[in-house]
Amino acid sequence: MTVQRVPTAVPADGPAPAPAGRGTGPVLPEPRGDLSAQVIGVLKGGERVPVPPSTAAVDPYGDDLQLALYVLYELHYRGFEGVDDRHEWNADLLRVRTGLEDHFLAALREDVPRAGGGAGAVLDALLVEPVGHDPRSVSHYLAERGELRQLREYAALRSLYHLKEADPHVWVIPRLRGRAKAAMAAIEFDEFGAGRAEDVHAQLFADLLADLGLDPVYGRYLDAAPAQALATVNLMSLLGLHRALRGALVGHFASVEITSPPGSRRLAEAMRRAGAGPAAQRFYDEHVEADAVHEQVVRHEVVAGLLADEPALEADIVFGVEATGVVEDRLAEHLLTAWRNDGTALRRPLRDGSGGVAAGGVVADGGGARRSPPRRDGRAGRAGRRGGPPTGR
Ligand SMILES: [Fe+2]
Ligand SMILES: [Fe+2]
Repeated sequence: MTVQRVPTAVPADGPAPAPAGRGTGPVLPEPRGDLSAQVIGVLKGGERVPVPPSTAAVDPYGDDLQLALYVLYELHYRGFEGVDDRHEWNADLLRVRTGLEDHFLAALREDVPRAGGGAGAVLDALLVEPVGHDPRSVSHYLAERGELRQLREYAALRSLYHLKEADPHVWVIPRLRGRAKAAMAAIEFDEFGAGRAEDVHAQLFADLLADLGLDPVYGRYLDAAPAQALATVNLMSLLGLHRALRGALVGHFASVEITSPPGSRRLAEAMRRAGAGPAAQRFYDEHVEADAVHEQVVRHEVVAGLLADEPALEADIVFGVEATGVVEDRLAEHLLTAWRNDGTALRRPLRDGSGGVAAGGVVADGGGARRSPPRRDGRAGRAGRRGGPPTGR
């Protein structure tokens, strides 16, 4: 039997593996430290990774680790321009990824609340809306006083999530059975446009970006995104890629769907007030409506179905919900601190009205974004309770 080999590493002193498939995805980002530099160096066809690099002194939520992890996960989505597609299963890189994941997961397990309670109680808590203004909520802030420049920053950094919206959650479907599988597939069918390419939620978000004068190209704002935004995407990739974490992935998904409607409503309001265009409005309006249904289905079919099938996964479901809260709260704190100090939440500020990012490290407008005068609202995901998940809160 002939077994096709995948590269175990790019040899330090030999030729790079034959380029069976060179990626056409986004360009590789700039490194943010030693770990990310090593990973990106390998993908550029260079050095071998010292296996595995130590993460002991590395901030599990910091730029270097989060970017290295993000880049490694991207190999499972669209890869990078010019990078050999076979690196997805490069054993050395997978070993490195395991070390980074363990460090990140350990921090999350340490930081989730210790209150206890089952999945029902934790999901019920997500339904509780604060009375009046919530000072820890991004969607509350944006709805009440958000400026167009802040909405544009929010859209740019959330593009890392929304342009792959629902993608990592598909990975759980083969790991579910019966009610949970059927319901999960039904929700994902909606997320992917119910058979219509123009209605795929990631496409709706690309339209929102264009409406806000931003570049809708996938991966465009990776260099601009702070570690806190990368961590929100890395969490769902981490949970999606590991069968052992299927319960947590379902918890993450439930958390997103349940918190989306109120947060999306507020973000829609913010977009309207700031004068964003109709596509921006449509994205959030669509989520207010769709997620009101998804919220019910995910609770009563996906979560309840999984618990009926595998009751031992309840603690994992709770962990997925709470870990989502941890990374979203960190992002919210970062955003609100920057905006309340009249600063930018991005690593590189956006250019006014163009799709680009201003200098420091000037990233030119990718040309994909054409400003349309801001006017209406849209939706955000679960950006709510304390900070706010992708769509709302
Ligand atoms: Fe969606
Ligand atoms: Fe949804």
